[in-house]
Amino acid sequence: MTVHRSIKIAPSILSADFANFGAEIRAIEAEGADWVHVDVMDGHFVPNLTFGPMAVKAFRPHVKTVMDVHLMIAPVDPYIDAYADAGADVLTAHVEAGPHIHRTLQAIRGAGMKAGVALNPGTPAEAVAHLLDLTDLICVMTVNPGFGGQKYIDMTDKVRHLRKMIGDREIHIEIDGGMDPTTAPGMAQAGADVLVAGSAVFRGGSVSQPGVYGKNMRAIRDAVEAI
Ligand code: DX5
Ligand code: ZN
Repeated sequence: MTVHRSIKIAPSILSADFANFGAEIRAIEAEGADWVHVDVMDGHFVPNLTFGPMAVKAFRPHVKTVMDVHLMIAPVDPYIDAYADAGADVLTAHVEAGPHIHRTLQAIRGAGMKAGVALNPGTPAEAVAHLLDLTDLICVMTVNPGFGGQKYIDMTDKVRHLRKMIGDREIHIEIDGGMDPTTAPGMAQAGADVLVAGSAVFRGGSVSQPGVYGKNMRAIRDAVEAI
């Protein structure tokens, strides 16, 4: 079966060398990354902490493709302008992060960014039914957010259902968590077009061995194209 949407691989720099983000971003892009996925965690919405808007702003000049910022924080609204100023192209908030996701998505678009909405594994597709006209991307979590390298949780039905709900709207479906050459093809087939991968891209490579990143990304792409 052919995949009708072009698949984009978005390596998560959560799995990069935290002392070397600039070089890591340049390496993954040189090796074929389509987007760069930036995982922001607050130690409150998720049980882990990464970085905030000042660090994201420092990443910006290194990103030549799309800077895809995934906020795992609550609240979101007080920080939207800071991430616009940091240069995020896509800013994704979790539907579980607060009572007013509709307002949050409006504010993200109002600040000039593409608006994404993320769903934890336990959250049904219907949670975004009334948000579709405010949304440019739906991120389906296939792990409980907070850490890289976790075991994939199958969300095929949810992705299929979302693709139907979306109809002919221009909305990306992004999958985040446990993506590798064995899990990615099913998600692409179900209707996803952006695949986030952390450990499966960075595993075995480094900025001095960037070819491994390329090989890892190719393995995912080849597996998807083989379906
Ligand atoms: C999980 C993050 C993911 C994560 C994916 O909280 O949002 O982006 O880094 O990592 P892997 O691909 O290792 O599951
Ligand atoms: Zn993420």
